[in-house]
Amino acid sequence: MNFDPKPDVCQPTGGAELPMLDVYMPMMKSAAIVSAAQLGLFQALAAGPLTGDALASILSSNPAGVRTLADFLVAIGYLSGDAQGYANTASTQRWFTPIGSVDYTAGALWTHEAWSMMGGLAHTEQAGKPQETLWHRMTVEPHMGPLFSRYMQAFAQDLGPDLVQHTPILSHHRRLLDLGGSHGLHSLRFCQANDQLNAVIVDMASALTDTPDTVASAGMQDRVTLRPGNLLDLDWGEGYDVVLYLSVGHNQTEQDNQRVVAHIAKVLKPGGLLVVHDYLAGVPLNAFHAAFRVTLLLETGTRTYSEAEYQTWFSQAGFQKATRVDLNPLEKGSLLFAKR
Ligand SMILES: C[S@@+](CC[C@H](N)C(=O)[O-])C[C@H]1O[C@@H](n2cnc3c(N)ncnc32)[C@H](O)[C@@H]1O
Repeated sequence: MNFDPKPDVCQPTGGAELPMLDVYMPMMKSAAIVSAAQLGLFQALAAGPLTGDALASILSSNPAGVRTLADFLVAIGYLSGDAQGYANTASTQRWFTPIGSVDYTAGALWTHEAWSMMGGLAHTEQAGKPQETLWHRMTVEPHMGPLFSRYMQAFAQDLGPDLVQHTPILSHHRRLLDLGGSHGLHSLRFCQANDQLNAVIVDMASALTDTPDTVASAGMQDRVTLRPGNLLDLDWGEGYDVVLYLSVGHNQTEQDNQRVVAHIAKVLKPGGLLVVHDYLAGVPLNAFHAAFRVTLLLETGTRTYSEAEYQTWFSQAGFQKATRVDLNPLEKGSLLFAKR
């Protein structure tokens, strides 16, 4: 499906330069989308267009306030219309309402949390490491873990079909280990697509709060089990046919990844498969990738790694050379498949 490109609101209307727009407009754009998510504005419009007054009434909000926000959302391409009738654009309907196959509302809500952390960015850059990691924050502020998992779940909804399509699960594969499996969606998808498969999810307790309910709603309690803990303790059980290491490598140091990959080789049966999803560092780094590295430095004090770095860890652990699949768009990341 094609969508109309959104306007580049950082460009001034005339030919002259106005760099302050780069500072001001992204903040306002982000704040507007986040507040729309907090109010449930996109969800309220999912069933069809509403006048400004009707929208305000559904959101139990001030009509002038809602119209001011909605007019800006029109200007940045998230809504169409005017106070006589606002509607979600096709893209908003697709990505920010339950009607689309992926609902990134949790991502917008998570961005609200990330905004406050960004206040410490200059300090992080000075120190070269975070004041406190995201994982520590989650233990102090218990609402953050489930929210982050819901955000990751939205990513997983988007990635899931690519992952299942490209991963060669064989009929003799019985046991799957999902390191940093969080919301459980990937394990569930693989088990649903392969009747012979059982999965074990290892993640920190803060990431697993909603997972038992998700597994139970899918009726998979007998086949998907949770093993809360720090995966760096390497206490994951053994005898696995497939190990998933999906978007977890960029949250670890180089030395920890080396250690984890070496242990994956030990818990995999001969001929077993390691599946990695990550945002592989290229040269030069594109803007999204460079931004993600800033986020990682701030949140976990880690970075993204190149394919060459992963291949080195694989070969040191005794894996065959991994094959690589780049996803479309590349901002969705890449998959690496390594056989033991
Ligand atoms: C970016 S999320 C990816 C979640 C999921 N694998 C996916 O692809 O949607 C990274 C996950 O790794 C988990 N994680 C990171 N470091 C960990 C550690 N040391 N021990 C256990 N889990 C960890 C986090 O809690 C989080 O759930």
